[in-house]
Amino acid sequence: MKKTVLVSGGAGFIGSHVTVELIEAGYDVVVADNFSNCDRTCFEGVKKITGREDLPLVVMDFCDKKAVKDLFTKYHIDAVIHFAAFKAVGESVDKPLMYYQNNLVSFMNVLETAQEIGGCNVLFSSSATVYGEPDTVPVTEDTPRKPAMSPYGNTKTMCEDILRDTVKANGGKLKGILLRYFNPIGAHPSALIGELPRGVPNNLVPFITQTAVGKREVLNIFGNDYPTPDGTCQRDFIDIVDLARAHVFAVTRMIEGKMKEDCEVFNVGTGRPLSVMELVNAFEKVNGVKVNYKIAPRRAGDITAIWADPTKANTEMGWKATRTIEETLKAAWAWECHLAGE
Ligand code: UFG
Repeated sequence: MKKTVLVSGGAGFIGSHVTVELIEAGYDVVVADNFSNCDRTCFEGVKKITGREDLPLVVMDFCDKKAVKDLFTKYHIDAVIHFAAFKAVGESVDKPLMYYQNNLVSFMNVLETAQEIGGCNVLFSSSATVYGEPDTVPVTEDTPRKPAMSPYGNTKTMCEDILRDTVKANGGKLKGILLRYFNPIGAHPSALIGELPRGVPNNLVPFITQTAVGKREVLNIFGNDYPTPDGTCQRDFIDIVDLARAHVFAVTRMIEGKMKEDCEVFNVGTGRPLSVMELVNAFEKVNGVKVNYKIAPRRAGDITAIWADPTKANTEMGWKATRTIEETLKAAWAWECHLAGE
């Protein structure tokens, strides 16, 4: 029988790509979202890509416990992937309570409900932000976590602990996987779904594509005096489709009972560091477009260099990032052009 995966925040950037990959891998998916930080574009795109016009969508807020309970009563959920959360680092500094309230309560409602129904498989979308500024790179799952640099980052660390403690208290009935994402970029090759930032983008790649298309005048490169080969920060940029596929591997591992511990953690990255400057150069080259940029002062809170050691995900889950940076940057540009109606 087909297994059903609930994807909270399933209409967002990562959630929509994960939904596509789950459906293509043969899962039934229930998408739940309150559209607080996205519109219907990606949900409609998912239906088009998968041909699933009947894809179930529940418009709800995960902070509403009753709504979460009703959802788990209506559908038989074999696994839940929890994305529904606020994610802007800067905003979280200005509005910490909004972040703690939303990101913690929504996740606790999922866990409480999973516990009440006698258990479930829970996948939490964590972040490399939990490693802070690491003492050595690349980082493995055993690299010590550092105190979070923002309330947003803190919600990731806290949710990791909440899941671990809940798993421990449920004697094997409730299982968890924490996926720590590095820097997801790009878009689906169909150009029907991709990143849709509201207002001025915080992240690098949407800023690059918006500058290239003429929506933004100039890209600020935040600092070229870091102790890195070219002076700009280094990151592990991972293709969004590769990242989405990691979720299919993780969900299957949980559902098929292949986990080695009741709560597991995996880095989801490529293992390949790329600097901000290298990324901008690669974007220009592969797409044959110019990005107007200038060197600007450092951005507060930025980590100098971080990239993953993805060995554990490669060997334990059998997942590996496969897409080249060229493919990824082509897809990011195709998506921006699609949005511009070209
Ligand atoms: N950058 C620029 N100009 C821009 C935007 C970004 O130079 O306009 C630089 C940043 O200074 C940084 C790099 O590009 O060096 C990547 O910045 P992003 O904002 O794209 O990504 P971050 O690495 O800062 O943050 C990402 C996620 C966070 C997550 C963090 C943890 O966006 O949600 O990784 O690793 F917490």
